[in-house]
Amino acid sequence: MIVYYLQIKWLHVLAVLASGALFTLRGGFVLAGARWPMAAPWRYLSYSIDTGLLTAAAMLASILPAAMFANGWLAAKLALLPVYVVLGSFALKRARTQGGRALSYAGSLLVFGFIIGIARAHHPLGPLLRFTL
Ligand code: HEM
Repeated sequence: MIVYYLQIKWLHVLAVLASGALFTLRGGFVLAGARWPMAAPWRYLSYSIDTGLLTAAAMLASILPAAMFANGWLAAKLALLPVYVVLGSFALKRARTQGGRALSYAGSLLVFGFIIGIARAHHPLGPLLRFTL
């Protein structure tokens, strides 16, 4: 499967971009009071993109040698994924107040960006790495 590594990686990155863009759009419109972001087609589109994202992710992780993850960057990504999911779910529906929704939305986008930073840096500190010695 290693011959398809680059294609799978681009599928993963494409799904990451699509997932982030869709969530940003839906969350922004929920904050503005719109109801369409929670309609079935948008929810199912989001589930499908995320399934593709995670399937490609699992394939990448199984292709690469374990030594690639020795510094814990993949573990950090995996640990932050549920944080992103929970914050995202509060941003879209679970938060009871507008302030709670806004805070969850900002938090989930921050965590999403941090996960991308970890992936790019191949380091658990991700974007914070540049502030270390
Ligand atoms: C189960 C969850 C995930 C796993 C197991 C996983 C695993 C991986 C692996 C193995 C790579 C390849 C690294 C390389 O070839 O250098 C990768 C790349 C990447 N991942 Fe994930 N990933 C997951 C979720 C995510 C999420 C949620 C995001 C975005 C928020 C994300 C963003 C990226 C990006 C941007 C890259 C490309 C990094 C580069 O430029 O080399 N991943 N991921």
